[in-house]
Amino acid sequence: MKEEKCTKTKKKFNLLIWSLILLIPVFSYSKSLKKIDSKKMKKEVIKKMKIKKEYFGKTNDGEEVDLFTLTNKNGIMLKITNYGGIITSMMVPDKSGKFDDIVLGFNTLNEYLKGHPYFGAIIGRYANRISKAKFLLNGNKYKLAANNGENHLHGGIKGFDKVLWKAKEIKKDEEIGVKLSYLSKDGEEGYPGNLSIIVTYSLTNNDELKIKYEAETDKTTPVNLTNHSYFNLKGPGVSDTLNHTLTIYANKYTPVDKGLIPTGELKKVKDTPMDFLKPCSIGLRIKEVKGGYDHNFVLNHAKGILSLAARVFEPETGRTMEILTTQPGIQFYSGNFLDGTIKGKNGKQYNKHYGFCLETQHFPDSPNNPNFPSTILKPGEKYIQTTIYKFYTQ
Ligand code: BGC
Repeated sequence: MKEEKCTKTKKKFNLLIWSLILLIPVFSYSKSLKKIDSKKMKKEVIKKMKIKKEYFGKTNDGEEVDLFTLTNKNGIMLKITNYGGIITSMMVPDKSGKFDDIVLGFNTLNEYLKGHPYFGAIIGRYANRISKAKFLLNGNKYKLAANNGENHLHGGIKGFDKVLWKAKEIKKDEEIGVKLSYLSKDGEEGYPGNLSIIVTYSLTNNDELKIKYEAETDKTTPVNLTNHSYFNLKGPGVSDTLNHTLTIYANKYTPVDKGLIPTGELKKVKDTPMDFLKPCSIGLRIKEVKGGYDHNFVLNHAKGILSLAARVFEPETGRTMEILTTQPGIQFYSGNFLDGTIKGKNGKQYNKHYGFCLETQHFPDSPNNPNFPSTILKPGEKYIQTTIYKFYTQ
């Protein structure tokens, strides 16, 4: 009896061993299938992400300009030209899946060459205003190009928005991009030092536009770089943006004088039309702000940490844009100087408030305000800032 039980257990054991032995190839086969599957998927994702480079025209000096079209696996499309590092188009879906262009700009290079209020461009060497176009650094007086009355705005007469950048395409597993580089010579627009700049635009499969700014100098100089895209989450030239809901994570802002130069004060937004701590439509209190919004907000986040700075939601389309940055400030400009004289893409007229900018930056006129975070870059140091625009629908 005992022996019979023992042989039965032995048989069961053998059966188990044999089935395990037989299953090994099946397991390894399915594992290799999975490997092939994930490799195939990766390849498909990479195949779906595309960069196309095409001829965009010639500058007034006869230099050839390119236009890069980047598409991610979800179909989001970004167009960038190496003239001014301008974002000319960004196609993003609404809540029903319909794609629309959400940035202001033109279809042709010629229109950009004729002049425009910095649509989509890289701004530098110093984004925003420097009072009376001058500053003092290490006991030396520097005089910059005055291009906004007596003040210096967005890098001067020929800022980084009007120069030709060298471009290199980038393709990684989950993102594609264009790396732009430019050497701003010692004395350009009045600034000291040869400044070499790299701006990398990337479009990720998480529906983010990432901009990384890097710079190095051979003489001490102020540096403040940003991007000047005008957004309209309904589509450019469709209507104004006053219905967009805005949140800015800033308890304070920098009040300005008549010439839009900061007074030096950091003022609380509480009980003022500058309070966007809770989502609020752009139009709700805009009439209480003389000339409309054109102010730098002091972001709450810790110094240099990539953090959520602002969110914009457009209720009709459901399109939402979040802005994360390492920068200490953000300029909210409600497109006050757009007056309908510019006809943009597809002949659409850009009227007042038809686009808004959220320019991540250091505070305006920092070189003349020692109490503001420093914008001074010294030889041997590296300037690095990152801003991410993330898109989704609600
Ligand atoms: C400034 C505005 C200026 C505009 C030029 C913005 O960044 O804050 O004052 O008029 O750029 O387009």
